[in-house]
Amino acid sequence: MNIFTDETREPTRREFLYLSTGIAGAVGVAGASWPFLDQMNPDASTLAMASIEVDVASLEEGASMTLKWRSRPIFIRNRTPKEIEAAKAVAMDELKDPVARNANLPKDQPATDLARSAGEGRENWLVMVGVCTHLGCIPLGQSGDYGGWFCPCHGSHYDTAGRIRKGPAPENLAIPPMTFISDTVIKIG
Ligand code: FES
Repeated sequence: MNIFTDETREPTRREFLYLSTGIAGAVGVAGASWPFLDQMNPDASTLAMASIEVDVASLEEGASMTLKWRSRPIFIRNRTPKEIEAAKAVAMDELKDPVARNANLPKDQPATDLARSAGEGRENWLVMVGVCTHLGCIPLGQSGDYGGWFCPCHGSHYDTAGRIRKGPAPENLAIPPMTFISDTVIKIG
């Protein structure tokens, strides 16, 4: 599987790191995500797609999937009530990055748990670009000191809302443009 849009060139050092950690990361997140990725079989035309639609009906509480959008991994997690409560309990002044980083909200939106989620009534859904904001590795899911994501490249810990809490990463994991177009289908992009 080639994640690069230009299949003829050699990957740069950074891209190689990104690719190799990405493989480890996706496996670490959930083995069940690989059949999905294989099914996607992203070729150049898929990678160029401006938007994708994902049916999350089969994603049970506490489960995650990883897919690709515009050559980048996207994490979708159906969070448990415990994970949501843990994220809600964090005071804003404890956050390293206080901004939501949610492409669907104003740029200065505070990083509350609600602002990080898919919104009112859908707080259980977390959709994020799975690229560490430090140097671009792919974090491991359900890992780290805060039970969210952990980037093994240089030790960044993200909480259950994907907010950076410890380590060198400067920003929360980005939330892409997304909307629910039915009860179970998310359009990304
Ligand atoms: Fe994730 Fe450095 S790339 S901590």
